[in-house]
Amino acid sequence: MSGDRPSWAPESIDLERPNAARVYDYLLGGAANFETDRVFAEKLLEMMPQARPAARMNRAFLRRAVKFCVAAGIDQFLDIGSGVPTAGNVHEIAPGARVQYVDNEAVAVTHSELLLRDNPNASCMLGDLTDPEPILAASALDFSRPVALLMAAVLHFIPDEAGPREAVARYVSVLAPGSYVVLSHGAERPTTPAPAEVDRLYETSANPGVRRTPAQISAFFDGLELVEPGLVWTPEWRPDSPDDVIDDPPSSLVLAGVARKP
Ligand SMILES: C[S@@+](CC[C@H](N)C(=O)[O-])C[C@H]1O[C@@H](n2cnc3c(N)ncnc32)[C@H](O)[C@@H]1O
Repeated sequence: MSGDRPSWAPESIDLERPNAARVYDYLLGGAANFETDRVFAEKLLEMMPQARPAARMNRAFLRRAVKFCVAAGIDQFLDIGSGVPTAGNVHEIAPGARVQYVDNEAVAVTHSELLLRDNPNASCMLGDLTDPEPILAASALDFSRPVALLMAAVLHFIPDEAGPREAVARYVSVLAPGSYVVLSHGAERPTTPAPAEVDRLYETSANPGVRRTPAQISAFFDGLELVEPGLVWTPEWRPDSPDDVIDDPPSSLVLAGVARKP
């Protein structure tokens, strides 16, 4: 379908270049993707068949983490890198909460706006994680009260040169005490590193990936108190049913954690 722009595709997007939001949507079984994304995702699945279950396990972690935040009394969420809406969006898991979604991909934002058009509590804006001020200024959240800042499966698309640490520190600086930071990040499987061809494949996309060690990922939580069980593979973070647990947690490819601002 490249070159054949569907009616829902915003004019600004490049139909020829695979994009993380739409590849992830395809992996999760969604329809907000183009041929270039599907071809990319199928190549990725040939190289790393676990990419699809890993996407589902990341999504399941996000659901459990949002439920955890709701149980802790959080009623405001800032979800950056929120993606194309799919099953288990934050406003569905936390009904009644105020939710600000942010993504830098136009298809993700357009689909979110459509889904949320009759929802007075949730909205989505185009924004870049590395440029906090417009996001903080436009968000309708009340930062004098606790907020959960969600950055799920997004920081591994942001190289150090783009300043992800400074940006995360800026968001954390405006959070009231008692706020939470929920984060997941693609990680190297210690025994079987991803083949170099996966990196080469990502370099052809709009979002080349960044490898970070567990210590580098933990550093995003600097100044915060990690809640139990700390930074772990997604299925290991507070599983709430036997379906969440797998024999080989590193095959989930994503480390995840939740921390509280003291
Ligand atoms: C793998 S998806 C994750 C979606 C959702 N957070 C989840 O975990 O299910 C990554 C999302 O991050 C978005 N993204 C990548 N770089 C970004 C940036 N610099 N600012 C905002 N969003 C970004 C992509 O467009 C994509 O929608």
